[in-house]
Amino acid sequence: MTNQEQGKKLAARRSIDLLHDSDRIIGVGSGSTVRYAIGFLKERMKRDGLDIRAIPTSYETRFLLIENGIPITTLAEHPIVDVAIDGADEVDPNLNLIKGGGAALTLEKIVDFAARRLIIIVDPSKLVKTLGERFALPIAIIPEAHETVLRAIKEKYTQDVKIRLASRKLGPVVTDNGNFIIDAKFNAISNPETLERDLNLIPGVVENGLFLDMTDVVLIGKENSVEQRVKDKKSGQVTITDS
Ligand code: 5RP
Repeated sequence: MTNQEQGKKLAARRSIDLLHDSDRIIGVGSGSTVRYAIGFLKERMKRDGLDIRAIPTSYETRFLLIENGIPITTLAEHPIVDVAIDGADEVDPNLNLIKGGGAALTLEKIVDFAARRLIIIVDPSKLVKTLGERFALPIAIIPEAHETVLRAIKEKYTQDVKIRLASRKLGPVVTDNGNFIIDAKFNAISNPETLERDLNLIPGVVENGLFLDMTDVVLIGKENSVEQRVKDKKSGQVTITDS
């Protein structure tokens, strides 16, 4: 196993250790790091006899939860989520995120927003100084709007923008919600709050991958330890420990 995979696994394990015995409704994000967390969640439920219902953020996660025998529920039944565990594509020093590498950003944002606590699990490659530095920002759009949204983004923001193409299907990626994904490379997003709002005002945009001021804890899995960054939502202060 590579150091990166080992780090993802350690971060995932720690996120499950951080669950409270009273947590009942768990939002479960998507991606390769969350995949590990699902395995550890199954173990912890068995070991501690926890009565948990999970809310998946993608079909992939839904299938994994079912495979692992973890009961599933919906936001309709449980609109308040005790805690959500999710991955990320970029994390900045204020614990703001870019997400959507797996095209699941819309449901992830809804579930993460509904959570009382949001725990993000990553390896160190996801840390950036400024959002947009490495990863193109994913934007979910209504299929019919692809040309008009592309044009609007090119006019106002960046020429480096494209529809995400599928790898084992001809044509574009179609998300679990029936949307297309546009990936827009910004290089450095200086004002993410304004961008998040303005992008969602373009007709046809469903949601974008900026997750701002939502995260409570980021767990960064390294080879032999986990760095924990905890944000105090009132003061905005981030405390860092490593163990
Ligand atoms: C999916 C996501 C994922 O959380 C993100 O892409 C991170 O995935 P991984 O843990 O595989 O690096 O946002 O839409």
